[in-house]
Amino acid sequence: MSKIALITGITGQDGSYLAEILLEKKIIVHGLVRRSSLIKTDRIDNLYYNPKYKSKFFLHYGDMTDGLNLVSLVKKINPDYIFNLAAQSHVQVSFETPEYTANADGLGTLRLLEAIRILSKTKKIKFYQASTSEMFGNSEKSLINENTKFEPVSPYGSAKLYSYWITRNYRDAYGIYASNGILFNHESPRRGETFVTRKVARAVSEIYFNKSKYLVVGNLNAKRDWGHARDYAFGMYQIICQKKPADYILSTGKNYTVRKFIEKCFKFINIKIVWKGKGLKEVGINKKNKKVLVKVGKRFFRPNEVHDLRGDSSKAKKAFGWNPNTSIDDLIKEMMVEELKTLGREN
Ligand code: NAP
Ligand code: GDD
Repeated sequence: MSKIALITGITGQDGSYLAEILLEKKIIVHGLVRRSSLIKTDRIDNLYYNPKYKSKFFLHYGDMTDGLNLVSLVKKINPDYIFNLAAQSHVQVSFETPEYTANADGLGTLRLLEAIRILSKTKKIKFYQASTSEMFGNSEKSLINENTKFEPVSPYGSAKLYSYWITRNYRDAYGIYASNGILFNHESPRRGETFVTRKVARAVSEIYFNKSKYLVVGNLNAKRDWGHARDYAFGMYQIICQKKPADYILSTGKNYTVRKFIEKCFKFINIKIVWKGKGLKEVGINKKNKKVLVKVGKRFFRPNEVHDLRGDSSKAKKAFGWNPNTSIDDLIKEMMVEELKTLGREN
């Protein structure tokens, strides 16, 4: 008998990679999709319309803020695995929608765990929670591991920390197989367009095609530990395959500033950026022709910021051999090639 998985957040970046991996592993995949006035299944259409997966891939309407819907879906689907990836996942947006973020990202997890408990599935269903490096805030200046203190600095980070703990609470109190993957930033050509890596790759490609004059960003000095979403989705699958539930960090162990990421993307189109000025007046200039290609905009700064994230994933490596296989340069290459291809087609 094939195993059955329910993925919340299947229309997102990670959900789409995870669905591919599970289907390859012959697992039947059910996904939760929010109803909206426009259809947003672009990232999974290749699976949904693939005849190979006709009786193996199913979508259901639902929402993390609707407990009755979640209970009835868990009852109907009767999954072996639940991957809880659904979230309002944008940190800056969480400052503007803190209550909604707490509801979807925090209480949503509780609703799913309660569904497992109420339906007496505590011994059947394995639960994966999409936890985040954002929960650490600025508590650690060097390498972060599973024992580092949590000190979130955003409504998003705080809501996710609630989910992290409620996952552990249900594991300890009810014996549910429930694990947290504490993932550092991971990107891909499928990344949402308002996250910094995709935004930069897109803008640099637009500049290449003369569709845009410059890029406007916020904090150039924030450092992130950026990996590839495909590698991290495989790590999620490996986490849920472990004999015992536990919490694991997935990260590359290397980090770069937003400034460096921008320089690397421009380098891909043979432009060298030099920086001039300070703070909001700082600009990135094309060294060759002195044109301003990067500006700093106040609106992209957050009320509070995580300055520096870098993770130690040695626990995951030791337990199941997980490795972040994609280097930052390969990640940028893949993102830039995809972006240039898309814009080239539109030209
Ligand atoms: P994403 O691209 O923003 O996808 C989020 C998904 O959640 C989308 O499918 C979205 O649906 C869905 N969703 C949002 N609110 C919902 C609600 N109320 N009910 C049902 N579905 C809802 O995020 P991602 O990058 O794939 O990340 C996946 C998960 O990992 C998230 O929980 C995120 O917080 C966490 N995480 C991400 C990273 C990272 O670097 N990517 C790192 C650590 C943790 P729509 O398509 O309808 O918007
Ligand atoms: N989005 C964005 N847009 N960020 C910018 C910009 C800009 O124009 N300019 C500078 N930044 C900085 C942000 O201030 C932050 O320090 C860094 O770039 C990364 O921002 P995002 O790409 O929005 O990601 P994030 O680190 O805030 O959050 C992502 O990673 C978390 C894991 O650490 C999201 O995927 C979260 O869902 C995830 O949990």
